[in-house]
Amino acid sequence: MAEQLRVGDRETTAQRLLNGTARKFYDPEVDIDWDAPLAEGKFFIPPNLVSLYGTRMWDEMTHEQRVELSRQEMMNTVSVGIWFENILNQLLLRMAYKQDPTSKHVHYELAELAEETRHMTMFGMLIGKAGGPAYRNDFLLHNGGKLLPLIIGGPTVWVATLVGEEIFDSLQRDFMNHPDLQPHVRQVMRIHVLEEARHIRFAREDLVRRMARTPWYGRFVARFAAGFGAYLLKSVLTRPEVYRRAGLDVRRARREARGNAHIHATYARAFEKLRSFLHDQGLVKGPNKVFWRLAKVHPDGKGVG
Ligand SMILES: [Fe+2]
Ligand SMILES: [Fe+2]
Repeated sequence: MAEQLRVGDRETTAQRLLNGTARKFYDPEVDIDWDAPLAEGKFFIPPNLVSLYGTRMWDEMTHEQRVELSRQEMMNTVSVGIWFENILNQLLLRMAYKQDPTSKHVHYELAELAEETRHMTMFGMLIGKAGGPAYRNDFLLHNGGKLLPLIIGGPTVWVATLVGEEIFDSLQRDFMNHPDLQPHVRQVMRIHVLEEARHIRFAREDLVRRMARTPWYGRFVARFAAGFGAYLLKSVLTRPEVYRRAGLDVRRARREARGNAHIHATYARAFEKLRSFLHDQGLVKGPNKVFWRLAKVHPDGKGVG
């Protein structure tokens, strides 16, 4: 059970977050030492977060192959992050378009948009530094991403936001202090975790406020978005293209990753804080639970492991 979220007045929250933004923010172009060389032999995500960690295939891989797979999985994760933040920024801009430009709420939406813009640049620079190329989406994801900002509204906006932000946040908290990690990745994750904490606060509080006045069909859509979003995110974070690029046997790698209880448990932990919060908002129930189970991130055991 998540702790009950105390929701303040909309303008008060926005003002507090604006104060925090003014006090502490980063410019990744100058705050990260991009000229420093990559560290020889270090991982791009911690080894225990690599999808094959703990499998027989992992045991057979050399250190270089493991580092290469971690490089590919980092570039994939960050590419997904750019895709997601681009969609989020379109949503933020569309919300600001409709609302009172003198309100603190709109000012914070624009402050968040500015931070996400810098994050996209930072992620792009990280992919470049790691040697690239960025991962591209397939036809459905690419065009679905163009459609989403036009069709979603109400609490679903914040549900989609939180599915992206909280999962990355949980994983990156694990990333950022790992001793075997490339220093550039560590710096990027520290900046991201600090700034995202404000975004998550904003999204969670506004979701709670909106849920109180959302009719049944809005709740229905939000529940679907929560489950499908969780499933989609888990799927794109583990796409087979990373194995092909890492020079591994794709079929075997997929099979071993699918049966890797360690990685499913790691992701289930990363999803848990959000799942439990959404559950308390009545957004993880009914038939949509099937998506959480398919993603293997539901704690009732069905499909986990
Ligand atoms: Fe971000
Ligand atoms: Fe964010």
